[in-house]
Amino acid sequence: MRRGGADELDEVMEVMTAAFQPCFGEAWTRSQCAGILPMHGVSLTLAEQGGQVAGFSLVRAVADEAELLLLAVDPSEQRRGIGQALLDDFIATALAGGAHRLHLEVRDGNPAVELYCTSGFSQVGRRRNYYHGPDGQSHDAVTLALVD
Ligand SMILES: CC(C)(COP(=O)(O)OP(=O)(O)OC[C@H]1O[C@@H](n2cnc3c(N)ncnc32)[C@H](O)[C@@H]1OP(=O)(O)O)[C@@H](O)C(=O)NCCC(=O)NCCS
Repeated sequence: MRRGGADELDEVMEVMTAAFQPCFGEAWTRSQCAGILPMHGVSLTLAEQGGQVAGFSLVRAVADEAELLLLAVDPSEQRRGIGQALLDDFIATALAGGAHRLHLEVRDGNPAVELYCTSGFSQVGRRRNYYHGPDGQSHDAVTLALVD
């Protein structure tokens, strides 16, 4: 695993497009990623397998809080522990950096909720109709937090 930057956006977008189902409207666009990367406290972590980017996380740390903005693993590499490794890295890095509250938003019903909850996150809120699919359908997000 290593930290990445704007130079790796092609690889990140490849994983993003393959990992997120378009019907739920969870994936970010390239310009959203490019826009947030230079911001203070934002970091991109890449997980590589055989020299290729297999997964990534995008994180924002502000004061004593850290937010997991995105986590994705290429479908061909899923269920091999890469998502867990990226999540563990997020948690360890955030705590080492002085964060006391870690949080994230995820679509209600996304199987990733299982991954987060087994790593110590629990639901603290719900945002109604947070995600918008291309078919006009809306989907709730749940807010999960881990408090140190
Ligand atoms: C969520 C995601 C990042 C998980 O990545 P991954 O590399 O497959 O995860 P891991 O192999 O590390 O899984 C660790 C554990 O999480 C849980 N888990 C992961 N994916 C799961 C799934 N689809 N259904 C149920 N549990 C799951 C399991 O407990 C798993 O352990 P196990 O394989 O021993 O049963 C990946 O499925 C993904 O990219 N999804 C699409 C993007 C997305 O929705 N991201 C989350 C919102 S930002």
